[in-house]
Amino acid sequence: MAFKIGLLGLGTVGTGTVQILADPAQRHPLVQELELYRVGVRTLDKPRSVELPATCLTTDLASIVTDPSVDIVVEVLGGLEPARTLILQAIAHGKHVVTANKAVIARYGEEIFTAAAQSGVYVLLEAAVGGGIPVIEPLKQSLCGNRIQAIIGIVNGTTNYILTRMQREGGDFSEILADAQQLGYAEADPSADVDGLDAADKIAILASLGFGGRIKLSDVYCEGIRQVSAADITYAEKFGFVIKLLAIARREPLPLGIDLEQLQIRVHPTLIPHPHPLANVNDVYNAILIEGDPVGQVMFYGRGAGAGPTASAVVADVLNIAALLQVGRSGLTHTDGTPLLDPLLACS
Ligand code: HSE
Repeated sequence: MAFKIGLLGLGTVGTGTVQILADPAQRHPLVQELELYRVGVRTLDKPRSVELPATCLTTDLASIVTDPSVDIVVEVLGGLEPARTLILQAIAHGKHVVTANKAVIARYGEEIFTAAAQSGVYVLLEAAVGGGIPVIEPLKQSLCGNRIQAIIGIVNGTTNYILTRMQREGGDFSEILADAQQLGYAEADPSADVDGLDAADKIAILASLGFGGRIKLSDVYCEGIRQVSAADITYAEKFGFVIKLLAIARREPLPLGIDLEQLQIRVHPTLIPHPHPLANVNDVYNAILIEGDPVGQVMFYGRGAGAGPTASAVVADVLNIAALLQVGRSGLTHTDGTPLLDPLLACS
């Protein structure tokens, strides 16, 4: 039985998602079970790089999240509204949700996950942080036996692309930013990227998962890259450093021998010595270094923005939910009713 997908948004990530779903060959067999049932867009008459039946498209986004036939809602609209309201409506109507929306999750994650728990639906967000890099699910699952000490990441592709090109070519900030927008890396309002706000959303989400609490955005110190000049980059280079926009969340002991810890969460341009692995993460690539006890350091690396990488994470979440539903339907569960640990494996 096919799983019907209601896609909200047909921008960069939505288009990448449609492209994966339209070409199931040599992917996980469950992709063939995903039916792109309805697609919500802002305007119908825009030229698009993917072909969809006219009957599939609608500008009535609310009709998708309330449609009884839709199993999984994929929200790739970006921005706070109407995304937040539509996610909550979808949950209230018993839909599972996949979202790439870091801004909504960083601000309304608690409300959304509480609603999801009450409705008994899944909300997955792998695409919200690190584009195509699996980091949310590993933090939730594979590393959950650790006490996380630090999460240090280059989590914004646009600023990393700009800083890398400034370093290589000494290029002009605004020209390089325009290129990043054209390549589909930058947010619609690029100040979210260059002022560090996008990275702040992402580190708030990672820190909430890693340190097990709700991290408010107002708890995150945030400074972007507008003030980084060509001269800063040249001097840093002379002393063996590169400048990267880092998002850092770390446990720190309190001073004066007080037996308590504080959590420091910050985003700012940082000098990194050349041999450090994060110093060699360039262009639109992201990397997240996680330090846990007892695992030690684990680093996740890959393309952190753009249609293909982000859609890869979106489709993985959809497949994970479909697999869990499939397992539920076919009864592939442990004797106590909990799903098998690796439902995707069970369905292949
Ligand atoms: N604008 C974001 C970035 C997109 O540059 O990383 C991915 O979240």
